[in-house]
Amino acid sequence: MVRNAPKNIKLKTIGVVHSPFHVREDIDPRRNFRPNGFSDVRGELEIDPAYAAGLKDIAGFSHLIVIFAFHKSGLGHLLVKPPFESRRRGVFSTRSPHRPNPIGMTVVRLLGRRGNVLRVSGIDLLEGTPVLDIKPYTSRDSKRGVKHGWMRTSVLNR
Ligand SMILES: C[S@@+](CC[C@H](N)C(=O)[O-])C[C@H]1O[C@@H](n2cnc3c(N)ncnc32)[C@H](O)[C@@H]1O
Repeated sequence: MVRNAPKNIKLKTIGVVHSPFHVREDIDPRRNFRPNGFSDVRGELEIDPAYAAGLKDIAGFSHLIVIFAFHKSGLGHLLVKPPFESRRRGVFSTRSPHRPNPIGMTVVRLLGRRGNVLRVSGIDLLEGTPVLDIKPYTSRDSKRGVKHGWMRTSVLNR
């Protein structure tokens, strides 16, 4: 156990994803490894009206970081076999939905806002995915000298 760290943290669902993908099989896993693999996939982030005031000023941002719960994932294993890989990898070196805390992030393009609903593209999530947080994506988020670890020679080339 890590000393002085709170063990359980409570999160609130602030909204829900509306997506054309209804079951995991609807999503081709190869697209996850391609840059802009889902850029043409449109969806909506419906924000609970109780949190809609927090959307003020969001319209000026082209891209958003969406933090969500993988609500349809399995048990959180520490070693996982990524799609098309024969070897198991440490879960924290993957984007696997099956992780100790089933939390994910994805960057979407903001197409427009209608009240508490954000129209977006770049959705690689299932219909009904709970949204935990939204943050603006900025050019500060793009880093130089990025290395791709085990993904370099395998899945990135699919
Ligand atoms: C590999 S994750 C990547 C998500 C995110 N863009 C990232 O890079 O962290 C995307 C996969 O998670 C699965 N998925 C999407 N929404 C999910 C949900 N709500 N619960 C469980 N699995 C989900 C789908 O199979 C999809 O191909």
